[in-house]
This record gives sequence, structure tokens and C-alpha cells, in this order.
Amino acid sequence: MPAELIVIDGPAGAGKSTVARRIAERFGAALLDTGAIYRSLAWLARGRGVDWDDESGLAEIAAQLRIDFQPPQQPGAPQRVLILNPVDAPERAPIDVTGLIRAPEISEGASRVSQHAAVRAALLDIQRGIAAVSVAAGRGCVAEGRDMGTVVFPEAAHKFFLTATRSARASRRHKELTASGAVASRGEVESEMAQRDQRDSSRETAPLQQADDAALIDSSELDIDAVVAQIVAAIQAAGPTPA
Ligand code: DC
Repeated sequence: MPAELIVIDGPAGAGKSTVARRIAERFGAALLDTGAIYRSLAWLARGRGVDWDDESGLAEIAAQLRIDFQPPQQPGAPQRVLILNPVDAPERAPIDVTGLIRAPEISEGASRVSQHAAVRAALLDIQRGIAAVSVAAGRGCVAEGRDMGTVVFPEAAHKFFLTATRSARASRRHKELTASGAVASRGEVESEMAQRDQRDSSRETAPLQQADDAALIDSSELDIDAVVAQIVAAIQAAGPTPA
């Protein structure tokens, strides 16, 4: 496949991360997990005592944020997320935040910081820059998030919107959390997800929304292999886009 941009948007728990990782592996493309960028910002802000509702304080950190994605240490594991400039201590070594940014309070923080227009604007360059490097290197890039097809990469060659019923998404997320040792009831997970869905879909700037030209995939009744197969088939059927 030529170096192209493939974008996958959708709500939490639809299987986006796993599917995006598998598609990137399949085509040898880079993987851009934009949720990890919002999570890293929320994590850094908390460390610096900047409130998740302080739009200008957050935008300042966002404008300086430098993130690097590195391959996982073991095959099949998530890629590593490194913050290269811990902002107020630029001489410090990069911080590996891969696990730290998955804590439930950081999920909440990421959802809160992502509401602010100035934050979203400040993070546009970082997202486009990472994708551009991969595409220019001839690798292609799979970008996943909420506004990839609508705002960040409206010109992407292949666009998908992956969703599932809230109940299916909550069950998956609950299983993941339980497997990682976290204690949360299925009901708590679903109500937290309902709140995040509401916030992500109703914010004024770049709400979660399917792009007009994105293919909709409902994963409620499909396993990951079936979703991956559908996306791969769609990309292959579309063929390379003209340069
Ligand atoms: O995909 P995730 O759960 O890691 O995303 C964390 C939060 O970041 C989620 O609540 C929505 C927000 N987000 C966003 O607003 N835009 C993106 N492109 C990616 C994530």
C-alpha cells in the first residue's frame, strides 16, 4: 500500500485502539493514538497543578507538549507513549507515561481537557506533524480519535467510524479494567461511559461525529478479527488514491 492516511474515529470502547493497532501492523504503517495525546496533557496538567477547566493554562502546556510514540517492548503490547519535555523541567529525561495515562482519573481528565477550543487548536500541529513524518517516510499512518476525519485530517484517503451500543462498549471496557486489576463495577463503568459520551458528543469544538465520507462500522456483534477484515477489505477495494 502506498503511504496513505487511514483514520478511525468513534466513541470509547468501540474497539478503536485495538483495531487501529492491527490495521497499522497489517500495512506496516505508523499508529497515531490521539487520545494518548489528550491523556498526556491531562496527566501533565495535574502534575503542574493546572486545573482541567483552566483553558488558557492548559493551552499553554499543550503548545509546548512534545510526545513520541515508540514500538512496544513486547509484540502485541500497546505502543509506548513518551513525554519528551516534562515542560517545567526541560532537562529531565523523557517520561514513559504509557501506563500512567490509562488510570480512570486520567480518562476523566482527558475528556475534560478535550472540551476546550484553545486546547484542541494547540494540539492540531502535534497530531498533523506526527502523521506527516510517517507519510513522508513512505510508511503511511493510522490515526485514531474522535475528530480525525472531520477536523484534523479531513483529506485522509480512508475514513472509518467505528461504533457499538453503549452496553457492548461498557462490557468490553469493564472486562479490560478487571483484567488489569482495577476494581469497578459494570454499572459504574457504564455510567462513567455515558457521561464521557455526552461530553464528547456535545462539546462545541470538534464533537464526536461521523465524517460524511467515513464508512460506518458497528462492532456490537462483531469480534476484532471481523472488524479488521472489513476495514482491510475496504482499503484494498478503494485502491491507492491518486497522488
Ligand atoms: O480514546 P481515548 O479514550 O484515549 O480518549 C481520551 C479522551 O480524549 C476522550 O474522552 C475524548 C478525548 N479525545 C478527543 O476529544 N479527541 C481525540 N481526537 C481523541 C481523544
